[in-house]
Amino acid sequence: MAELLTANDKRTCYCAQLSARDLGRRVCVMGWVQKQRNLGSLIFIDLRDRSGIIQLSFDEHTEPSIRDAAYSIRSEYVLCAKGVVRSRGEGAINRTLPTGEIEIAVDELKVLSSSKTPPFDVVENSPVRADVRMRYRFLDLRRPDMQRNIMARSRITKIARDYYAAEGFIDIETPNLIKPTPEGARDYLVPSRLHPGKFYALPQSPQLYKQLLMLSGFDRYFQIARCYRDEDLRADRQPEFTPIDTEMSFVTADDVMAVHEGFIKYLFREFCGVRLDYDFVKMPYAEAMDRFGSDKPDLRFGFELCDVSSLFAGCAFGVFADNTAPGRSVRAINVKGGAAFSRKEIDALTDLAKTYRAKGLAWLKKNEAGEISSSFAKFLTESETRALLERTQVACGDLLLLVADKNNVVYDALGALRVECARRLGLLDPHDYKFLWVTEFPLLEYSEEDGRFYAKHHPFTSPMDEDVQYLDSDPGRVRAKAYDIVLNGTEIGGGSIRIHDAELQSHMFAVLGMTEEESREKFGFLLDAFQYGVPPHGGLAFGLDRLVALTLGFEDIRDVIAFPKVQNASELMTGAPSFTDDASLRELSIAVTAKES
Ligand code: AMO
Ligand code: AMP
Repeated sequence: MAELLTANDKRTCYCAQLSARDLGRRVCVMGWVQKQRNLGSLIFIDLRDRSGIIQLSFDEHTEPSIRDAAYSIRSEYVLCAKGVVRSRGEGAINRTLPTGEIEIAVDELKVLSSSKTPPFDVVENSPVRADVRMRYRFLDLRRPDMQRNIMARSRITKIARDYYAAEGFIDIETPNLIKPTPEGARDYLVPSRLHPGKFYALPQSPQLYKQLLMLSGFDRYFQIARCYRDEDLRADRQPEFTPIDTEMSFVTADDVMAVHEGFIKYLFREFCGVRLDYDFVKMPYAEAMDRFGSDKPDLRFGFELCDVSSLFAGCAFGVFADNTAPGRSVRAINVKGGAAFSRKEIDALTDLAKTYRAKGLAWLKKNEAGEISSSFAKFLTESETRALLERTQVACGDLLLLVADKNNVVYDALGALRVECARRLGLLDPHDYKFLWVTEFPLLEYSEEDGRFYAKHHPFTSPMDEDVQYLDSDPGRVRAKAYDIVLNGTEIGGGSIRIHDAELQSHMFAVLGMTEEESREKFGFLLDAFQYGVPPHGGLAFGLDRLVALTLGFEDIRDVIAFPKVQNASELMTGAPSFTDDASLRELSIAVTAKES
């Protein structure tokens, strides 16, 4: 019984654009029924569109056929309503609604579409299981909070386009069917019908194209791109995501950071009305690890790591004494106010530490009365304990957490504990924005498992000039001209100055264990291009999803993506991925050897 729109049915405004200024005006609105209330002689319908809600009113003066129609209208029906804006009158005013003083006295009504009873109420924060939300994402997206998020994302994207265009960046699209670009994750592969047995990869990033655009002379490139990485999902990771991808010629790392810091400041001024008029901290990677146990430190709170190894070199407590040699350490964080944590909470912290491969968690509490309780003090001498309390400045109410192990285990465990303790103590205000740059990353990362080095950022990142000399003799020591921008413990962007010299690039491939044939096979086009005049260049990519989520105060990027994937990388609404028919497979010369049951 869907009625049709005609040429006369022209919407005059969005629902929530109406106000007392419109009293007496005849309007036409369209939208979804939030709810219908039937009070006998009076019927009210809350009509919703992307702007908000307006009340439609039907009373004894309404033509009977229209009132009859209004009686049978249910939630989520789609209406076209015309009528005159009038005051609700004292007593009927709804102060919680921006349009709460007015209503439309409807004199024309069309039901454009009816609706089944939805599986959940289309209201903000309605309690729904996550999988039901995802299965009915089209309804979930009708909720005012999701509408706000998706529209905010659109505004942020527009602000990014405006900023980078004004800074002279040129928007250039790069291909989505490409030769694999290694960024460290698994590729999504696309079979080629015309080249049996061959595959394209979906880009993990437009990295090499944007570098080649610098060779082509475009000088400043910008793209709101789409990238694909087949890696384990987390709250801040999706298999496809959207970088704000950039590249610049004739620049140093500081130049690149300045332009992008400018974007963040512009964004916060335009979008949040917040002025960030200070230089973002630039912290070398080594300092970030030493102080925060993380290369993406959350600076909203303290609890910095304190190396206490030197206090325990010869002590009787083996757990500590055995971890004082180079490459290992005993480190502590002083959780101010943490003495209030119960034994159960400390056990939970211990379990968390163990997920980061720590063998245990040593703890010491000083309560408000100054009494000390501890899991390890009994193994120490009085003077050792005193020295520890002094070094870590323990006061009444504090909780000391210690991990003794290889440095990387100590960093990972204490880095995670710091954040978890801050979360438990309510110190993570999502609207307190703490930005910083982490710089001087290691160029390479050694994999014990594979017995070789990998590029920490990507193989095109330039080593620092003063460290090039160690590329062969001590690769682990080489720092890179790489930088990440971090907001509240999340990496929201990363980039580097690139190698722009064919010889150094070949050298880098060799350090990564590639033979000359392999590097020619994979990157011959790049090495060839490097023979024809390369400007020094560098760039950065922001994770738009993360940036939008954090700006709006969310931890999960799914809150700002219209159609995200769930934990196992499937999309519950459409059912992707799915099996395909044998004919398609034959055409692609593909034989499937295993199938999900
Ligand atoms: P990188 O790999 O650091 O750099 O990626 C850039 C930014 O993208 C975001 N990001 C993600 N967001 C959601 N889901 C994911 N799976 C995901 N992976 C990354 C992060 C990250 O900082 N080519 C380089 C950039 C360059 O060197 O210019 C690159 O892709 O916020
Ligand atoms: P134990 O000697 O095993 O009873 O351990 C004494 C205390 O030290 C307990 O609180 C353990 O959780 C803790 N502990 C054990 N191994 C480590 C470690 N590698 N780092 C920090 N604390 C540890």
